[in-house]
Amino acid sequence: MQRQSIWVVAAVVGLLLAGSYPLAQELGVASLRGAQVDVPVGIEDLAAQHKRRFNRAYRMQPPLIPHGIDQYQIDAANNQCLGCHDWSNAGDQDAPTLSMTHYLDRDGRQLDEVAGTRWFCNQCHVTQADVEPLVENTFVPSSQR
Ligand code: HEC
Ligand code: HEC
Repeated sequence: MQRQSIWVVAAVVGLLLAGSYPLAQELGVASLRGAQVDVPVGIEDLAAQHKRRFNRAYRMQPPLIPHGIDQYQIDAANNQCLGCHDWSNAGDQDAPTLSMTHYLDRDGRQLDEVAGTRWFCNQCHVTQADVEPLVENTFVPSSQR
């Protein structure tokens, strides 16, 4: 009996959530870039790639990615970035090699394969674009302090 009522509550909550979607629009809820939440945003408009490398803003910054990455799959089994950036391929591909910090596991052991903690590259590296900051802020690169 109790289990049944849990399902009823779940169904009601689900319906309410589904119903609130158009509500977001009515209330004028928009993304940081001012787009309506139900309108797809074309990334071409926002993130024109800049081919030359940007300076790092501080010494240990993960460098920005100076090329597109939308074609490169990263999941539990595959990581296409490694096809160019792993130490075993980078020479052939004329790409910068992952720095050796990427081959240290969390216990400080040197590995021959990229560490699990560095598997999801775009956790730290993002593609670069010369765009206005989404939120006003006072950040300055450490070299300009
Ligand atoms: C087809 C080969 C190739 C693939 C695949 C590739 N890259 Fe690259 N990447 C390059 C090359 C070549 C450069 C150097 C470009 C330059 O210097 O202008 C580069 C540069 C970079 C840099 C800048 C390094 C620095 O020192 O400034 C980063 C970060 C990077 N790639 C990350 C990635 C990530 C993350 C992926 C996967 C989502 C990826 N790359 C997939 C070829 C590749
Ligand atoms: C936990 C954050 C993190 C992850 C995940 C990560 N990186 Fe990095 N990466 C960094 C940092 C920080 C640096 C700069 C300091 C250094 O070289 O270790 C860097 C440096 C680099 C460089 C420049 C190397 C050089 O010597 O100029 C490349 C290329 C790169 N990463 C590619 C990748 C790729 C490809 C992946 C995924 C396989 C990846 N990174 C995953 C944080 C990360």
